[in-house]
Amino acid sequence: MYFIGVDLGTSATKLLLMDEQGAIHKIVSRSYPLSMPRPGWSEQDPEAWIEAAFSGIRELIEGIDAREVKGIAAAGQMHGLVALDEKDRVLRPAILWNDGRTGEETDWLNHTIGEGFLAAHTGNIAFAGFTAPKLLWMQKREPELFRQIAKIMLPKDYLTYRLTGVHSADCSDASGTLLFDVARRTWSDEMLEVCSLHKSQMGRVFESAQAVGTLRREAAEALGLTPDVIVAAGAGDNAAAAVGTGAVGKGKCNISLGTSGTLFLSDDRYVEPSNHALHAFCHADGGWHLLGCELSAASCLSWWAELTGHEDLAAEQAAVDPAKLGRNRVFFLPYLMGERTPHNDADAAGAFIGMRMDTGRADLTQAVLEGVAFGLRDGLEIARKAGMKVASSGLAGGGAKSPLWREILANILDLELLTPETEQGPGLGGAILAAVVCGVFPDVQTASEKLVRPAQSRTRPDKALTALYDARYQVFASLYPALKAGFQAL
Ligand code: XUL
Repeated sequence: MYFIGVDLGTSATKLLLMDEQGAIHKIVSRSYPLSMPRPGWSEQDPEAWIEAAFSGIRELIEGIDAREVKGIAAAGQMHGLVALDEKDRVLRPAILWNDGRTGEETDWLNHTIGEGFLAAHTGNIAFAGFTAPKLLWMQKREPELFRQIAKIMLPKDYLTYRLTGVHSADCSDASGTLLFDVARRTWSDEMLEVCSLHKSQMGRVFESAQAVGTLRREAAEALGLTPDVIVAAGAGDNAAAAVGTGAVGKGKCNISLGTSGTLFLSDDRYVEPSNHALHAFCHADGGWHLLGCELSAASCLSWWAELTGHEDLAAEQAAVDPAKLGRNRVFFLPYLMGERTPHNDADAAGAFIGMRMDTGRADLTQAVLEGVAFGLRDGLEIARKAGMKVASSGLAGGGAKSPLWREILANILDLELLTPETEQGPGLGGAILAAVVCGVFPDVQTASEKLVRPAQSRTRPDKALTALYDARYQVFASLYPALKAGFQAL
């Protein structure tokens, strides 16, 4: 038996084929562009995701008996707005999680509707990338299109719709819309009303490992699969990545170093975070989790390499002198798309600080790697100040492949990092959800514990280096407040 996990990401859709023992047989990737029609905007054509997923699945199953594929589940970039008309046609390009156009709407939600109201009905406050502010933006700026919205879908739910013909949502991904009551795992009537929406516009809510349906005939034919393949509701990419690294149940941590950088802390009950700097979302295992999200992580490194004309990321990092770890005088603020955790500031921007005549390019590369890690530490500090004890974490996402970045991260965060067999956490998580929906395992936690192989590498923090980085972090933490007014003026 085979199961397919689809990770509908921001830079690419990655697909993974797993058997019922958890062995990974093949990984396929299809990349697509990101469109930034204005500064701070971030959009994608949903059709590009569908083409990538469909052609990717066809390549994934080449050479195997397609009848052995029993289940599919998608994990996806969260918060993106896919608006469909009454004929299920896409009304406009999807507005993505790292789009910062909704500053006004976010402020209106937090200050006029009020953080207390939002928290009471959704468990969260508003952030620019969440789905509800995007809908308010459309209502104001594109009223004609807004009126035509018949269905509101998240990116991976749109793919699930194209596979099954069913408009679905799962609790983990729906949590990031600010239209969902996270504690009660259902759409919030109050928030739908605030955004002039109706429940009929929302997908039917499922748990991640519940069956949405089977493949519609056209999809099965296009993919070369049998129509009885079961499609699970799937999960937001962070929840799926946590399933793929074993961060299920209570008290586990996973860090994802992809286009975004996230810190994921699992729990078996709903706990309202004290100041809502971390998001409180549903987990794909039926529980809950806290999430800190920095909007630009591995994307900072690719931006830097592209900008300097050296797109070989490994060579760029090889130039960093290990003796300089913890001693870099240059800092990088990774806010290339504004920032979510902890600043909630769409106006924040990237910056290099501390350069002198003797600063070299490798110092700047090092600063980029360190700046992303310091940004993640900001999220971890919130959790630690709230009394959470985190000593080790799984690590997923493209950045996990870099030994240098792992060392920097482990020491800046003072965490032992466990890197699994594959950095494709969301894809593996998706395949595990598919195995559960097909009845191979009784629940997500059991499946994840059985199928996720032990860590391939462990990166332990070093006491002396952690102390050096601790002092550096204090400097990093002082930089954003000092520059905030300047960012706003820009
Ligand atoms: C999480 C978030 C990102 C996207 C990236 O809140 O916005 O991690 O899910 O795909």
